[in-house]
Amino acid sequence: MKIGIIGSGNIGGNLGIHFAKASHEVVFSSRNPEKLTPLVAATDGKARASTPEEAANFAEVILLAIPFGNVPAVAQSIGDIDGKVLIDAGNYYPQRDGDEIGKEMQAKNLLETEWTASHFPGAHVGKAFNSIYYKTLQNKAFAPQADRLAIPFAAADKKAEETIQSLLTSIGFGSTFLGDLTQTKIIQPNEPLYTKEMSEEALEKQVKQLLG
Ligand SMILES: NC(=O)c1ccc[n+]([C@@H]2O[C@H](COP(=O)([O-])OP(=O)(O)OC[C@H]3O[C@@H](n4cnc5c(N)ncnc54)[C@H](OP(=O)(O)O)[C@@H]3O)[C@@H](O)[C@H]2O)c1
Repeated sequence: MKIGIIGSGNIGGNLGIHFAKASHEVVFSSRNPEKLTPLVAATDGKARASTPEEAANFAEVILLAIPFGNVPAVAQSIGDIDGKVLIDAGNYYPQRDGDEIGKEMQAKNLLETEWTASHFPGAHVGKAFNSIYYKTLQNKAFAPQADRLAIPFAAADKKAEETIQSLLTSIGFGSTFLGDLTQTKIIQPNEPLYTKEMSEEALEKQVKQLLG
């Protein structure tokens, strides 16, 4: 797949390295792409670095891994991404992202990725990688089947679901589908599945108990 990484930090940087290793075409991005030279080198030159606008334009799949409060700015700068899959790895932390977004989500009765999706109305939006600590993401990819950790994910539609499922498999993680974006409260910060490390079997069991 052609993957554009928006936010090439702890989460986006590590995931991009894994995606490149799994033979996906990866473009990392930064507002200062010249600083991404070490990250490109970590992929043995398989990936390249560019601006967020160019990465989004190139991509079939966009990984959004930025501070949550900067979502509106990114939506404005990258423009139309209609028809592309957007994977939201972000979490809302009021102390980092400000109180206003929290108030808006509450007033509109939106969960975090529903709020993100509202800024990208033409995209196929899913949520994944938000509930795994970046060092776990870095160290536990490509594990043998018996040792695999499962990553919980959700998707607004079938295209996003199939894309995320396939990406998770390609980098050696198990996966547990939660449902559409209305089912994602349990993987938000301070909720039961946030930063929990489990096998697919254990995670499926937990999800069944939590979502019914
Ligand atoms: N750290 C974790 O363990 C972890 C785990 C799960 C989820 N998350 C969530 O994932 C998101 C990213 O976390 P992180 O730890 O990877 O953050 P990070 O290391 O600080 O990286 C964030 C990146 O976002 C980019 N960025 C910020 N504002 C931008 C904008 N307006 N346009 C384009 N790019 C922008 C920055 O790139 P430039 O400054 O170079 O442009 C930066 O490299 C957050 O929402 C976080 O809560 C984090």
